[in-house]
Amino acid sequence: MEKKLRVLILNGSPRAKGNTALALKEMESVFGELGVEYEDILLGKLAIRGCMACGACSKLGRCVHDDIVNELAAKFEAADGLVIGSPVYYGSANGTLVSALQRLFYSTRFDKSLKVGASVVCARRSGCTATFDELNKFFTISSMPVASSRYWNNIHGGAPGEAEADAEGRAVARQLARNMVFLMQSIALGRENLGLPKEEPRAWTNFIR
Ligand SMILES: Cc1cc2nc3c(=O)[nH]c(=O)nc-3n(C[C@H](O)[C@H](O)[C@H](O)COP(=O)(O)O)c2cc1C
Repeated sequence: MEKKLRVLILNGSPRAKGNTALALKEMESVFGELGVEYEDILLGKLAIRGCMACGACSKLGRCVHDDIVNELAAKFEAADGLVIGSPVYYGSANGTLVSALQRLFYSTRFDKSLKVGASVVCARRSGCTATFDELNKFFTISSMPVASSRYWNNIHGGAPGEAEADAEGRAVARQLARNMVFLMQSIALGRENLGLPKEEPRAWTNFIR
């Protein structure tokens, strides 16, 4: 395999030194060890508006609101894998991240299939699995294989840095990164040796018919 693998990492938290960042740093240590390039982007402090369903992206191929989301699109297209990290806010991914992801996935037309997705969530106490499911849905609607680990990928901590004490959560994050790299490598080999799976023709039906 000639080309270096690349991973785009999105952190929904506003806290650069928060607990989600701590889990992502564990993943980054593995990416570094295995020679995978990565870029880590903190989204939570940015003013990212939600999708307004204007449909302009179907003609433009990008979001009509020309902000960080359009910058992320180019980075996502160039990546072999996408990691999404989110703090749990009221049992959900945080709002800024959700706004960014909905616009990113909806407004882009490039082929996301077989880019590997991985998500990791952080809560003081509860709401992790609902948030984990929420994030994984962006991958599974896009034919993106989802990397898994030894548990559902969560880490626990309230105040910034508290998750340092969650040795199990940190190990889950490192294992997630190892499994993700293996999947990306396997897909790259499969692409060379077997070719990509044939795409089924699109059908677009609503349940009212
Ligand atoms: C608006 C808001 C809502 C929150 N909701 C939850 C929650 O539903 N469950 C929980 O366990 N912690 C909740 N928390 C705590 C955060 O998940 C926790 O502080 C976490 O460490 C934040 O991650 P970060 O350091 O990466 O930002 C909430 C925090 C905020 C600011």
